[in-house]
Amino acid sequence: MGLITIDEGKCTRCGFCARACPAGIISMGDGFPETIEKIEKGCITCGHCVAVCPTAALNHSRMMPQECAQLSPGWRLTPSQVEQLIKGRRSVRNFRTEPIEAQVIADLLEIVRYAPTGMNSQNVSWKAVLDEQEVQALSLAVIQWLGSVGDDFPYSVKGILKALEMGRDPILRKAPALMIAHGTADDPLSFASATIALATLDLAALPFGLGTCWAGFLTMAAASSCEVATALGLPPGHRMYGGMMIGYPAFEYARIPTRNPARVTWG
Ligand SMILES: Cc1cc2nc3c(=O)[nH]c(=O)nc-3n(C[C@H](O)[C@H](O)[C@H](O)COP(=O)(O)O)c2cc1C
Repeated sequence: MGLITIDEGKCTRCGFCARACPAGIISMGDGFPETIEKIEKGCITCGHCVAVCPTAALNHSRMMPQECAQLSPGWRLTPSQVEQLIKGRRSVRNFRTEPIEAQVIADLLEIVRYAPTGMNSQNVSWKAVLDEQEVQALSLAVIQWLGSVGDDFPYSVKGILKALEMGRDPILRKAPALMIAHGTADDPLSFASATIALATLDLAALPFGLGTCWAGFLTMAAASSCEVATALGLPPGHRMYGGMMIGYPAFEYARIPTRNPARVTWG
């Protein structure tokens, strides 16, 4: 069987599949869509050829139309709904002690796994730390590392240590859970893909009633300290690309804080 097969009874020869293929593998010629055999191996299995076909006439050997959910007509949110979602999201640093069920994280990742990845690699791995004690242990490992970094550090280590003395957790904010995006360093786009996945998680968490905060200190520490990297317990050869505290917010925000105007040059 070839890479694609066409149901000629259904195909309208609209050519959308050929135009949508990012690798230019599909040609229309004079008849029905067909792949250009010599460059078939450039297929990144993005499924655009299957997803764009209005009559479900195109089968990809690795993706059938029946496996691809039909989009409902009203799937696009209005600009004002998106504006509220993006402007209403806040970094949450005060969590209820309530743990997050693993199923909730699984439901969230079921959405997040559709975030774009470089070359459709889909190579972002996650570690879900759902035990508050384990999150605290990582905070302490970061604080130990901070004690050794000296004055070069761009943030006030003194302030962080002071907050710790006062019983606060300035690193992981006593979050009940933590999501770590990780992967191997062999793909130069892994970092971007993982960051996009985290940003998607950040927004996707909102309708679940969850709040998040980027774990920047932990990410910096994991990149600089063997002890912190080891404490993460990632698979051999994997590195942390970013992390996110996650939990049920202790309180809600009533207003949207102001932000700088977009910095843009029109050229
Ligand atoms: C890459 C990155 C790392 C961050 N790291 C931390 C962190 O370690 N701890 C923290 O409390 N907030 C962290 N933040 C949250 C920022 O401080 C926050 O996004 C910013 O103050 C704006 O607030 P908002 O997210 O509510 O709009 C981080 C944000 C980003 C984008």
